[in-house]
Amino acid sequence: MIKQWIEKQKIKSKMHKCFRHCKMYHEKKQGDKKIRIYPQITNIRPLEDRLEVVFILQTGLSTEAIDETIFKQVFGKNIEIKHDKIKKCVLNVYKNEIPKKVNYDFHLIKNHVAKMQLPFICGLDIHGELIIIDLATEAHLLLSAETGGGKSSLLRANITFLIELNGNYELYLTDLKRSEFGMFRNCSNVKGVYITTSDILPTLKKIEKEMKYRGDLLDQHEVNSIDELDIKLKRILVVIDEVALLRKEKEIMSIVEDISSIGRSLGVHLVLSMQRPDSKILESGNLKNNLRVRISGRQSNSMNAKVAGVEGAENIGMNQRGRMLIKLDDIQEFQGFYLDSAEAKKILKNYKVKGQVHVEPEQQLGVKQENILGVLDE
Ligand SMILES: Nc1ncnc2c1ncn2[C@@H]1O[C@H](COP(=O)(O)OP(=O)(O)OP(=O)(O)O)[C@@H](O)[C@H]1O
Ligand SMILES: [Mg+2]
Repeated sequence: MIKQWIEKQKIKSKMHKCFRHCKMYHEKKQGDKKIRIYPQITNIRPLEDRLEVVFILQTGLSTEAIDETIFKQVFGKNIEIKHDKIKKCVLNVYKNEIPKKVNYDFHLIKNHVAKMQLPFICGLDIHGELIIIDLATEAHLLLSAETGGGKSSLLRANITFLIELNGNYELYLTDLKRSEFGMFRNCSNVKGVYITTSDILPTLKKIEKEMKYRGDLLDQHEVNSIDELDIKLKRILVVIDEVALLRKEKEIMSIVEDISSIGRSLGVHLVLSMQRPDSKILESGNLKNNLRVRISGRQSNSMNAKVAGVEGAENIGMNQRGRMLIKLDDIQEFQGFYLDSAEAKKILKNYKVKGQVHVEPEQQLGVKQENILGVLDE
């Protein structure tokens, strides 16, 4: 009992240290002395996988004062702080660490996506849980990180996964650095790999036409989404690695922005990656708001993390390759699935479509108005 009491006092004193550094206290005069009144710690509970500390902010203190960096310095990196909008806060100090590497494993991941139409696989979080989102509901995603942060690797794992999964979707892959997506050429589900702006523009124009066609179809059937149609249209996923290289391409960027604003109900989705979060691209127009899901690997500073929309990404270590934060409603940390190029190529050999040596972009989408994309079957 005494041991437990001492432990709790130690934790309390650590909490007070954090409160002091975050300036989370009120000062009150007592005689000629000033005393500090800290938030009330209402519960300290050692659990199997973590320590839980509950504290209540007194009136006048805001949850904005909670500086996670300070709590990390005091309690170690594996913490999480949750709070309601007003007062109650919970600090979790985890015993586990997020693994340094999580190898891509199709069969393991597959069991978790049964109900998803267009999964985007992220990685493992601190609880060892898989983080996977469904783009059919989340619509579009922005992935950013400084060079070496693991963007292309995560895209590689994702595209390979979608090819292996072979669902009802088509992939349009743009790789202006010409270094990453070549291996996906002629794979099933992959409708095109584009390496120049003149390659991608005609395809995007056809996707735009397809969106118009699908929009009309929804109107005719008086429904709000392709999910409500009897005919099962294929979801279309446009992946652009290094979208910042397109920033001067007005026509392309305008279609990309259109997809970001109306694509969701039409089943047209974007995954964009970006090295340095480019405020010109992201903050002009609606692109950033429309890319609801943001994933970020390490950012070189807090300003870039802010532009990327994932504050805290500047705290990811230089050597933590593939360590990322995802922002949905709140921010979660994970270690990204890793699949190296050689391994990916081995897997993809099994998915090459015979005879599909090179397909011109114009032929990929089907040009007849009544037969564009969605109603086209392979
Ligand atoms: N999830 C991961 N787990 C372990 N190592 C990783 C992971 N992701 C990336 N790496 C390592 O980091 C290296 C760089 O990753 P990657 O090429 O994906 O970064 P990038 O963000 O695309 O960089 P750039 O902006 O320069 O293109 C990889 O070659 C690999 O060695
Ligand atoms: Mg890259």
